[in-house]
Amino acid sequence: MNKNIVILGAQWGDEGKGKIVDCISSDAEYVVRYQGGHNAGHTLVINKKKIILHLIPSGILHKNVIGIIANGVVISPSALIQEIKMLEENDIIINERLFISNSSPLILQYHIEMDRAREKKLGIQALGTTGRGIGPAYEDKIARRALRIGDLKNTKTLSERLKKIVHYYNYQLVNFYQHQSIDYKMILNDLLSNAKVLFNMIQDTTHILHTAIKNKKKIVFEGAQGTLLDIDHGTYPYVTSSNSTIGGVMTGTGIGPKNINTIIGVTKAYSTRVGSGPFPTELFDKIDKHFSHQGNEFGSTTGRKRRTGWLDSVSLCRSIQINSISSLCITKLDVLDGLDEIKICISYKNIYTSKIISFPDINEWEHIIPIYETYPGWSQKTLGIKKIEDLPYQARAYINRIQEITQTPISIISTGPDRSDIIFIHDIIHINKSITLNTI
Ligand code: GDP
Ligand code: IMO
Ligand code: MG
Repeated sequence: MNKNIVILGAQWGDEGKGKIVDCISSDAEYVVRYQGGHNAGHTLVINKKKIILHLIPSGILHKNVIGIIANGVVISPSALIQEIKMLEENDIIINERLFISNSSPLILQYHIEMDRAREKKLGIQALGTTGRGIGPAYEDKIARRALRIGDLKNTKTLSERLKKIVHYYNYQLVNFYQHQSIDYKMILNDLLSNAKVLFNMIQDTTHILHTAIKNKKKIVFEGAQGTLLDIDHGTYPYVTSSNSTIGGVMTGTGIGPKNINTIIGVTKAYSTRVGSGPFPTELFDKIDKHFSHQGNEFGSTTGRKRRTGWLDSVSLCRSIQINSISSLCITKLDVLDGLDEIKICISYKNIYTSKIISFPDINEWEHIIPIYETYPGWSQKTLGIKKIEDLPYQARAYINRIQEITQTPISIISTGPDRSDIIFIHDIIHINKSITLNTI
């Protein structure tokens, strides 16, 4: 049987996907990024040493793993090269074990300028993007004018098309956004020199993956962002510009749904969001300070303070449905250590009609308040615990309650940032029902 696993975010991103991908990839042959770009920031901590990846799949730290950046990912050649160098400086050599799809759209300087100019013009209504050019790059893809990685192979056509696109962007940047123009020659020269570095990595990654599937190789698919940031299913317009939900695996790689054996949704034991947009369980009190401080809740890509709140089971249940999640991974349980009580949002109520809303539509988000259940906290440290029976009984009761509310088994618990701070409860491939944890 194949053992292909999807790891994706069940909240608003930064759930700890990178760490989990790293933890389950030691025996994988391939680890694949399928959507997003260098807006992602995936943190790995190995023996106290921290590495943050933006584009390269997190499994790459295992020397046996081949990394694939598939067609659904928007690639900034300069960001990718910088990341390859950063890994080399950390003695992680990726020579001949990183492949990039010839169909991936490029992110170039004009996308970044456009992203920033738009955010500036939006003022207080800004989306709070990462400023990495993600939205404009996906727009180009859908508008069928994107330059793609495969275009780096034909310099003449590339230069001609680039010239036209730069002209198109400069017209808008200068006339509509009163922004500085961009220099075609500079972009072309950078691109041509970057192309030389990336040339040997460019492949038909769909073919590589189907060969791997045929040969029963283990493949891990690494999601970026989270379900509530999905362009179709998230809190639009406060979302990213790709499908971070399960459909993104298929369109972003060219494999079919039957090639996936298990789907793990990663969620923190509480919630965070970075950037603007609805966040029903958001806190502004001393609990926010606790999460921020104990959870080190500052963005891995932009360094911004993340907004924090209690676990939101309404959004989580929606994520489970949309993604066909087989089991959940709960991260950052240790961040709850020391709290007197812990809350879970179990429903949303409309503040005007007092009606319970199953899931808000686009305009309803600002009219709802969360309804909570409250549970006792624990004073012991869970940081670094590796066995379920070593968790305080209140922590086990909390885990049981999440399983009950979501009707979904929990297969993995993360108890710290380090690769070794992890509890595996289940065989993640064959999981089909929850195990109620002993709370005595
Ligand atoms: P990703 O984007 O989903 O990969 O998550 P990020 O790396 O952006 O953010 C997760 C943060 O939480 C990083 O700083 C991780 O090192 C850290 N982290 C992951 N799991 C745990 C955990 O179980 N406990 C604690 N305290 N930190 C964790
Ligand atoms: P990982 O993979 C958290 C958020 C931005 C902003 C919105 C749109 O580390 O979980 P964009 O630059 O994509 O156009 O910004 O999406 N965002 C993320 N938030 N984690 C991420 O990635 C994110 N990638 C984008 O903050 O609100
Ligand atoms: Mg992140």
